[in-house]
This record gives sequence, C-alpha cells and structure tokens, in this order.
Amino acid sequence: MFEIIKVKNYDEMSDRAFELIKEIVTTKPDCVLGLATGSTPLGLYKLMVEDHEQNGTSYRGVTTVNLDEYVGLPEGHPESYRYYMEQNVFSKIDIPAENTYLPEDGEDPTEQCEKYETILDRLGVDLQVLGIGSNGHIGFNEPGTSFDSQTRVVDLDESTRRDNSRFFNSIDEVPKQALTMGIASILKAKKIVLLASGANKADAIAAMVNGPQTPDVPASALQSHPNVIVIVDEAAAQSL
Ligand code: PGA
Repeated sequence: MFEIIKVKNYDEMSDRAFELIKEIVTTKPDCVLGLATGSTPLGLYKLMVEDHEQNGTSYRGVTTVNLDEYVGLPEGHPESYRYYMEQNVFSKIDIPAENTYLPEDGEDPTEQCEKYETILDRLGVDLQVLGIGSNGHIGFNEPGTSFDSQTRVVDLDESTRRDNSRFFNSIDEVPKQALTMGIASILKAKKIVLLASGANKADAIAAMVNGPQTPDVPASALQSHPNVIVIVDEAAAQSL
C-alpha cells in the first residue's frame, strides 16, 4: 500500500521525510532506523543534524542499519558508504558508534551477509528510508532480483555504475560489486519511506506505483508492503 505525498521540490521532500524521522525518534527513542546513501537523503540528513544541534534531539538510544555498501573499497575511502554516513550523519549526532550497522565485505563476504541478515532480524527495522535508482532498483537490488532475496553480494548494473560514476574520477573506479540488503530484507521493515526527486526518477516511480509487480522493477515489490510512504517532488511525479 502506497501513501503518496507529492511535494514541490527537493527541499520540501527533505522536510517531509525529516518530520517522519523526528516523530519516531522522539516517540520511540530506542527505535531502529534503516538508512540509505546517495544524493537523495542528503537534505534529510542535514535537517537531522541541524535539529540535533539546535533542539538537542537525541539519537543516543537509536540504532541504524544501512542498506548497502560497495565491495572492495579500502576502509576510509571517501566513496564508501561507511565514510558517507560518518561524514553526513554519525559524527554529527550523538548516536553511539556501536549502534551503527552497515554491511561489510571482510574476508568472507557471504558469511558477512548472513551475519547482517541475522542482525536485521534481531533488531527489527521500525522505519526504513529508501531512494530509488533510475532503473527502479532499491538498495543495490538491480532489475531481475528475486523478491525473496536477502542480504548478499551482487554485481552492479552498468546503468548504476554510470549513475554513480559522478562521485568517482571515472567509471573505471566505480566498484563492480556491492553488498546489499535483499528485497525480502527491506520488506521486513515495519514502515518504509521512499524518497524521489528529479525527472530522471519519473519512469521508475510510475513503474513502481502503477506498473505490474515484476522483478524487472525491483521497487514494485513494495506494492506488497502494508505501510509505504512515497514522498515525490513534481519532477519525479510527472508520470504518475
Ligand atoms: P541517488 O541514488 O539518491 O543518488 O539518486 C538513489 C539510488 O540509487 O537508490
């Protein structure tokens, strides 16, 4: 079930998402937040940090689990998602480091993925923040992913590597693999908020909401979830 909230632009999308986060963090101080990386949630994270600094909203009891991480980037690499989360969120709020989880490749990535799935089951995500790829992916679950999928190592689509090459010196530097929560892992969250801004997301949003449920559009799996809020700006909503 989708509740669709159409807003004017990126800033309004971030404001609405922030209201949801603030509500859950204040009413359930030990909540588990599922977090995403990429350009889309940056405005939301900025608002969380400002609110923490100005109003003292605390994340001391909060636990976070991230959707995904590249395989093979050295620790501290500026494009790793751990680095992104540290820079944009974790180092700027009062969340204890041990409460922040991201998938890690380590020596045996498959074993790490199984461990991550166990952590997800143990914690239980209250609110999962999602972006959407222009190809309809959620997390790094690329088109063709089974809806039963759990946390695992995946090959990245060329379209995703192209989209993300804007953060690297060249496309050759974009990792070819990632660790990602699966679609079944994401669907276990009690509530999901999916954010989309910009015309390059319009086709994916329309296919997610109005198209058939198909692995060709991984986000269409969300049609089966009972509690999904979609916050879209005018450009991303133009094909709805
Ligand atoms: P973006 O990525 O926020 O950088 O557009 C979204 C995604 O690929 O899920």
